[in-house]
Amino acid sequence: MDERLERYATELFAPEDSSLAAIRARHGALGLPPIHISSDEGKLLHVLLRATGARRVLELGSLAGYSGVWLARALPVDGRLTTVEKDPRHARLARQAFAEAGVSDRVTLIEGAALDVLPTLAAGFDAVFVDADKAPLADYYEWSLTLLRPGGLLLCDNAFYHGSVVDPEDRSPDALGVRAFNQRAATDSRVAAAVIPIRDGLVIGVKLPS
Ligand code: DHB
Ligand code: MG
Repeated sequence: MDERLERYATELFAPEDSSLAAIRARHGALGLPPIHISSDEGKLLHVLLRATGARRVLELGSLAGYSGVWLARALPVDGRLTTVEKDPRHARLARQAFAEAGVSDRVTLIEGAALDVLPTLAAGFDAVFVDADKAPLADYYEWSLTLLRPGGLLLCDNAFYHGSVVDPEDRSPDALGVRAFNQRAATDSRVAAAVIPIRDGLVIGVKLPS
């Protein structure tokens, strides 16, 4: 998109408050990987949760809490975001971010590798946002479908993975994982899915009633 249009849309529709700005600043100051979602992607996730009346949401990959704040703020007061993070440093920063943003009462952060944590969760999530390591994405796909309620929303960041999905030379585990997730989401008869070309691509799907 034209840079001026992107700035116009982001500044108008997805301004950051001081909590979100502080999380972003922390990424720079602490040398965290600058891979959090953009504010316009955060606002899109927020709108999707609001539009579907989501109350129970699962996130894989908290990082320092930037996306979690966007997600948690879309929930009703009795809603719950469960977010999973394997890096203890990221988990500590995410907890701090949730406290600063005033959403701690709506967030449960579980520290651990997603594939260890997922089998411990009760099914029935209204939405799952997958934004963790890329190699296991086929497994994360299957777990997401297991844990989503029928009609639930499947969301996955990095559908394009910097263009590596269309680079046949890229056979890295990460690229293979992203392609596998996309392939399943696109062709699975249990799901209707599309890609929104925002930032690095967002897969959005719905688990169809069986
Ligand atoms: C990268 C970006 C992401 O959004 C992510 O989830 C993982 C990696 C990246 O830029 O490498
Ligand atoms: Mg991502």
